[in-house]
Amino acid sequence: MNKALKEILFTEEQIKDRVKELGIEITHDYMDRDLFMVGILKGSFIFMADLIREINLPVLIDFMSVTSYGRSATSSGEVKILKDLDFSVEGRDVLIVEDIIDTGYTLEYIQKMFITRGARSVRFATFLDKNEARKVDIKVDYRGYFVPNDFIVGYGLDYSEEYRNLPYVAALKEEVYSK
Ligand code: IMP
Ligand code: MG
Repeated sequence: MNKALKEILFTEEQIKDRVKELGIEITHDYMDRDLFMVGILKGSFIFMADLIREINLPVLIDFMSVTSYGRSATSSGEVKILKDLDFSVEGRDVLIVEDIIDTGYTLEYIQKMFITRGARSVRFATFLDKNEARKVDIKVDYRGYFVPNDFIVGYGLDYSEEYRNLPYVAALKEEVYSK
C-alpha cells in the first residue's frame, strides 16, 4: 500500500457490488421518467462511468465542473462554475452524480440552480457521504457508503490531483494533508 495511505476502506470488489445495487435501484425509480445524469467533474467520473453501465434505461449524460475546494483540503462554501452543462435541464429528471458529499455546499448550490432553470426533479447520487461534516441539510437519494471525517482518496477522488486512479477507496494519513 502507498505510504501516504492510512487504511483501505472499500475494495474494488466491494465497490463493484455496491454500484450494481445502486444501478438497480435507480433503474427501478426512473422507469417512467426522463433521466438526465449530471456528473460533477472531476471526482465523479469513475463512479459515473461504472454507474451508468448498471442502469438499464435510456439516459442522457452530461458533466459540469465547479470549484469548491481548489487545491487545498478545506471547504470554503463558495461555488464557481468552470464548465456548465451542454444540455438544458428544463423538464428533465436530473440525477446529480457526485464522488463525495462533505459540507453539502456544492450540491445545495447546484440543486437550487437546476430548480431555477426548470428541472422537473433534482436528486442526488453520491458515491461517498461524509455525513459528520455536513453544514447544510441535504437529502441524499442514492448513496454508496458513509465514510468517516478523514480525507478520502481513490476511485476518482483526489488529494491535490493525486490518487484518482486507485481502484479502491482509502483514507489518507493525517500528516499528509494537515501540513
Ligand atoms: P462540499 O461542497 O463540501 O460538499 O464539497 C464536496 C466536494 O469536495 C467533493 O465533490 C470533492 O470534490 C471534495 N471533497 C470533499 N471531501 C473530500 C475528500 O475527503 N477527498 C477528496 N475530495 C473531497
Ligand atoms: Mg467533486
